[in-house]
Amino acid sequence: TRRMNVLGIETTCDETAAAIVAPAEGEGETRGIVRANEVLSQIAEHAAYGGVVPEIAARAHVEVLDRLIARALDRAGLRLAELDGIAVAAGPGLIGGVLVGLVTAKTLALVARKPLLAVNHLEAHALTARLTDGLAFPYLLLLASGGHTQLVAVKGVGDYVRLGSTIDDAIGEAFDKVAKLLGLAYPGGPEVERMAEAGDPERFALPRPMLGRKRADFSLSGLKTALRIEAERIAPLAERDVADLCAGFQAAVVDVVVDRVRVALRDFANVAGHPTALVAAGGVAANGALRRALAAQAGEAGLAFVAPPLNLCGDNGAMIAWAGIERLRLGLTDDLTAPARARWPF
Ligand code: KG4
Ligand code: ZN
Repeated sequence: TRRMNVLGIETTCDETAAAIVAPAEGEGETRGIVRANEVLSQIAEHAAYGGVVPEIAARAHVEVLDRLIARALDRAGLRLAELDGIAVAAGPGLIGGVLVGLVTAKTLALVARKPLLAVNHLEAHALTARLTDGLAFPYLLLLASGGHTQLVAVKGVGDYVRLGSTIDDAIGEAFDKVAKLLGLAYPGGPEVERMAEAGDPERFALPRPMLGRKRADFSLSGLKTALRIEAERIAPLAERDVADLCAGFQAAVVDVVVDRVRVALRDFANVAGHPTALVAAGGVAANGALRRALAAQAGEAGLAFVAPPLNLCGDNGAMIAWAGIERLRLGLTDDLTAPARARWPF
């Protein structure tokens, strides 16, 4: 039998991406094979503004998306006619960018007469562990990105129970804001992690918000404020100070996450039974300190720890294509009226 190939398009934020994924061969295989994974970051366009500018993002997506799709097809050695589906992130995200991807996907689906798969960007992050590791349901997901922080019991495709979320900043957002405050480049996560390597995490006594709370929710704005107060108190900041502040912040975030995951693991049993694994996804899952802490925690709980390789942590087209495959297998296709959604809880 011929392999199924699905194109995935991602334009919800500041990465333009197109990828082609096929399910791995074999009976009962859940894993996927990434045949092409083209990502073009717009960081350079937005860096001067210290954050993503929606109008600039949408224009940049328009300028490069066609070429990226052509290149992905080329890499995979496929023609449009040979695809089995066109998957696109239809939200949540910046509406201008989402529209660029969705209109492109609809046009391709119409012209090539292929099924359209309007994928939820967050659901795609959530299912990436199945693409890479063939993970079985149910598992506990920590989804942490620039816009979202959630702990979710992933019971099946389209079957998710949220166990906790942030009541203020997303974790990635907190990293980005702290970086900006300390004069580091955008996006802040990787910069803060790099600086933290040389820093002393104990020099500043920073709070661990929500520690010990019964529900697995997050709050990060108090930590960010405490860090700002410390930074202002010792200004002007030397490189050493910045390193210590970054190390202190990162250590506090890791402590908070581990505590919240502990609560979510306890709640998981009530809604989904025994998890197959603890999974980290979203851009923040690229953080090494966080990965190490979660791996240790999963080990103690007797669970596997699964986090996508770095290039599949941040936004990419492969995760969209894979979510499309999962939906296509279940017959969950969409028609040309599928809406672009700025907000789309999952
Ligand atoms: O999933 P993602 O690529 O985009 C969305 O927000 O959907 O996540 C980007 C976020 C940014 O806030 C970025 O600062 C953060 O992930 N991030 C990190 C690291 N790499 C990226 N945060 C902490 N440590 C990192 N190494
Ligand atoms: Zn994302």
